[in-house]
Amino acid sequence: MDFKIAVLKGDGIGPEIVEQAIKVMKAVGKKFNHNFVFTEALTGACAIDAVGDPYPEETHRLCMDSDAVLFGAIGDPKYDNNPKAKVRPEQGLLAMRKKLGLYANIRPVTTFPSLLHKSPLRRDLVEGADFVVVRELTGGIYFGDKGRSEDLNMAFDNCVYTRPEVERILELGFEYAAKRNKRLTVVDKANVLATSRLWREIAQEMAPSHPDIEVDYMFVDNAAMQIIQWPRKFDVMVTENMFGDILSDEASVITGSLGLLPSASVGIHTSVFEPIHGSYPQAAGKDIANPLATVLSAAMLLELALDLTDEAKAVRDVVDRSITKGFVTEDIAEGKAYKTSEVGNWLAVNL
Ligand code: IPM
Ligand code: MG
Repeated sequence: MDFKIAVLKGDGIGPEIVEQAIKVMKAVGKKFNHNFVFTEALTGACAIDAVGDPYPEETHRLCMDSDAVLFGAIGDPKYDNNPKAKVRPEQGLLAMRKKLGLYANIRPVTTFPSLLHKSPLRRDLVEGADFVVVRELTGGIYFGDKGRSEDLNMAFDNCVYTRPEVERILELGFEYAAKRNKRLTVVDKANVLATSRLWREIAQEMAPSHPDIEVDYMFVDNAAMQIIQWPRKFDVMVTENMFGDILSDEASVITGSLGLLPSASVGIHTSVFEPIHGSYPQAAGKDIANPLATVLSAAMLLELALDLTDEAKAVRDVVDRSITKGFVTEDIAEGKAYKTSEVGNWLAVNL
């Protein structure tokens, strides 16, 4: 089959890690007889530099016309400490989410036995942890009205959710729980926030029509604690945009494999697949960054966007083998470390 893949490499290490995922997808194409057509477009700081817009219209059109988007990372230190910058790379990401209607961000958190010693948590706490964070991605405080008073001494960000927005993301949470271990944790701050009370009310209305799913409700501060204390107790966690942003970063590091975790953003139009780590500018161009999270994002792309389950499994298998054999980059290597491009080549050849 022919598939159109939009490639948004972005900034920092984005280009080099995405290049490895493309090598692996090309190997998948050969092995399983598919034709992936990759087309690149600009996003992030590199797009601001080139055309003054972090998510240009041309990039959006390419995404809309594609079967899936493979995304690297965006962000540049020159913007991070400049609160007065007029355009920021992150605005490109938010514009992409809104325009593609990517209302859900799916982040599976899994452990890799050979990397458990890299976890900041004790092995006995984290071993076997396996859960998914389903984060709402196009509503809440990220997209509510924001502004400053005339004298600039007051600022506000509104948090807004509507019933349909909450229903569709909770429905996805129930769906994931049904496919997994049938437990759904709804994370909110219903003791303080009106939006959270709406979430909880709707979740309670929906629960009876999913009798096979065990639903529990947890305040976000408590959830932040329990992820550290009992990471194994979670199956699917569903939450609003900003809580999800924070909890998914927390969840991603407890396994010790930050460089290995993929994510998917799905919704109304084309889905986007990207590693959960950032653009790691210090490593850009050095051929040392770990490409595995991006390669595993390509596996999610194959499975979720193109419905190619065996192909996705082949990619996960070859990644597992590279880890077991120690053919990995310096961040996780025990002995000899390999370059980003060498890992990509090895995966493509051994797939
Ligand atoms: C993420 C990132 C983004 C977010 C930033 C870069 C705008 O942290 O994808 O989690 O806050 O959503
Ligand atoms: Mg984040």
